[in-house]
Amino acid sequence: MPDQETTLRQRAKAVKPYRCKNLIAVIENPMDAKNIGTILRNVNALGIDKTYIVDAKRSLPDDWQELRERRSVAKSSVSASKWSFVKRFDSTEDCLSHLEKNRYVSIVTSPHIKGKDNYILHEADYTHPRLAVWFGNESRGISNLAVERSEFCVSIPMFGIVESLNLGTTTGIVLYEITKQRRAYQEKYKRAIRNPGTATQGAA
Ligand SMILES: C[S@@+](CC[C@H](N)C(=O)[O-])C[C@H]1O[C@@H](n2cnc3c(N)ncnc32)[C@H](O)[C@@H]1O
Repeated sequence: MPDQETTLRQRAKAVKPYRCKNLIAVIENPMDAKNIGTILRNVNALGIDKTYIVDAKRSLPDDWQELRERRSVAKSSVSASKWSFVKRFDSTEDCLSHLEKNRYVSIVTSPHIKGKDNYILHEADYTHPRLAVWFGNESRGISNLAVERSEFCVSIPMFGIVESLNLGTTTGIVLYEITKQRRAYQEKYKRAIRNPGTATQGAA
C-alpha cells in the first residue's frame, strides 16, 4: 500500500498536464481570512499555479509559511494552502507593475459595469498567453486603479435581489469558466503540434 506522500506525488504527476500555466488569481485587499482559504481551495482544485494578494493594510505576514499555517486559512482551504504559491504585495500599483513587467494582461471582475469594456462571464475569451484575474475587496469591490490598467471587466449575471456574490463563491464560478477555456485551448494547440495541419482543416 503506497504511503500518503507517494499517493500525493502520483496525483500531482497525473494532474500536471491539465494544470493552467501562466494564470494568476489576484485578490485585492481581502478582509476575511476564511475567504482567502476558500479562494486557495478553488485555485488549487482548478489547477491554477499562483495567487497574488494585495494587502495594503499589511495585515498579512510577509512570510507565506506563517500565513498558510494560520488556523482560519488552513481550515477553510482544507490544507490547499500547503500546496499553494502565494505572493503578497503592499499595494495595487506594486502588483500591477510586477504583472506588467512579466507581460501579464490583467482583467477585473465586478458585479457592476466598470471601465471601457465589459463582458458577461461566458462571452469573453480568456486564452491570453499570460493572464491575471483580479477579485475585489468584500465591501469596496475592485479599485479604480486595477480597472484602469485592465483589458476588460467581467460580470457573472445575477437575477436576485442582492447586489453581489460572495468573494470566495465568485472565484469558483469565474475561475471555472476561465480554466475550462484555457484547458480546451491548450489541448487544441497540443493536438495541432502533434498533427500539423489539423488546426486549419475545415477552415476554408
Ligand atoms: C462582495 S463583492 C464586492 C461588492 C462591492 N460592493 C462592489 O461594488 O463590488 C467582492 C468581489 O467579488 C466579486 N464579485 C461579486 N459578485 C460578482 C459578480 N456578480 N460578477 C463578477 N464579480 C463579482 C468582485 O471581484 C467583487 O469585487
